[in-house]
Amino acid sequence: MMVAGARPQFVKLAPVFKALNASGHFLIKIVHTGQHYDHLLSGIFFSELNIPDPDYNLGVGSASQAVQIAEILLKLSPIIQAENPDLLIVFGDTNSTAAAALCAAIHKIPVTHIEAGLREFDKNIPEEINKLVTDSVSTLYFCPTNTGVQNLLKAGITEHVYHTGDVGMDLLFNLGQEFEASKDLLDRMGISAGNYIFATCHRAANTDNIENLTEILRAFAAAPRPVVFPVHPRTYKVMVQYNLLDAIPQCKLILTDPFGFTDTQILIKNAAMVLTDSGGVIKEAYFHQVPSIIIDKQTEWLEILEEGWSVIAGPSFENISRYLHNFEIPEHHGMSLGDGKASEKIAQLIYEYLQSGQ
Ligand code: UD1
Repeated sequence: MMVAGARPQFVKLAPVFKALNASGHFLIKIVHTGQHYDHLLSGIFFSELNIPDPDYNLGVGSASQAVQIAEILLKLSPIIQAENPDLLIVFGDTNSTAAAALCAAIHKIPVTHIEAGLREFDKNIPEEINKLVTDSVSTLYFCPTNTGVQNLLKAGITEHVYHTGDVGMDLLFNLGQEFEASKDLLDRMGISAGNYIFATCHRAANTDNIENLTEILRAFAAAPRPVVFPVHPRTYKVMVQYNLLDAIPQCKLILTDPFGFTDTQILIKNAAMVLTDSGGVIKEAYFHQVPSIIIDKQTEWLEILEEGWSVIAGPSFENISRYLHNFEIPEHHGMSLGDGKASEKIAQLIYEYLQSGQ
């Protein structure tokens, strides 16, 4: 049973589903928690990435972290009891991840955590709580990076820990002809390759703090190139509620609805630079060899920082502006997030685990 509920998880579920399915060993059930429900945050990824319709949709919708987790527990529990899966797979660090992992563990179903071991070392971050909960109840740990493995070792977790590489990379390695459409998209947006900045902002630390969000939007608006900014509904609501756009010059800001997977990759790949607080976008920029400035105070993707493809500016107008004007692009790119085969390795390891009858 695979459980997902939020946009970044569909991107991870797609290649893992494909690999499990191709191996011919598994009967797979997909559960959508309903954490994300807007077409542009959910349905578009299912159709674009050829994910079959979920077998179940819990329809939990938006709520606080506590309520969302409680609702998923309540609604997933009878499904797990009825289906009695051999294994449950969760992805990343959203509320859907932690809730589903906890629910499966309560029902004594082994939990597989894909993107295990990552830490931001700050329990004020909702995702950090989800990471800690999920890793503490999991049985199989698939780490995208060596940092993930080391963090688990430090926490005393040593069994069934594997460094597989990042499943998000698998999709990117397989992208190809989709990029033929890229000129049309850039033309439609009135931008040209290498001459704009791609920006996203949705983490709670930025959207729930008006001072931070204002600093970030001011920095976007003052950037030396046009900024394409697909706005997450969460961010949009706050921008409207506090009239934040009225307060900043918008001449170079291109505000849009969220994009699907391929259009996002086209826009990242052709950008001069990326500004983001999204872990997924940081990784994707790295893959496309586009430098990124992190508008958050920390990241779990230390390998990318170490190679110099990313820097942490935090939600600071001054820091973001400084890096926008001075960013030395590294000469080396280590492909340190994997070789595009993480999902295949995971499918094989799951098969071996289940065959071993542990
Ligand atoms: C969630 C994840 C985050 C991930 C992000 C990707 C948690 C704690 N956070 O954050 O790790 O990076 O997804 O987008 O799980 N909303 C809509 N339509 C939707 C879904 C949400 O308008 O389909 C709005 C609602 O106002 C909602 C807000 O966005 O309250 C926040 O949604 P939520 O699912 O709580 O978290 P995200 O910010 O999307």
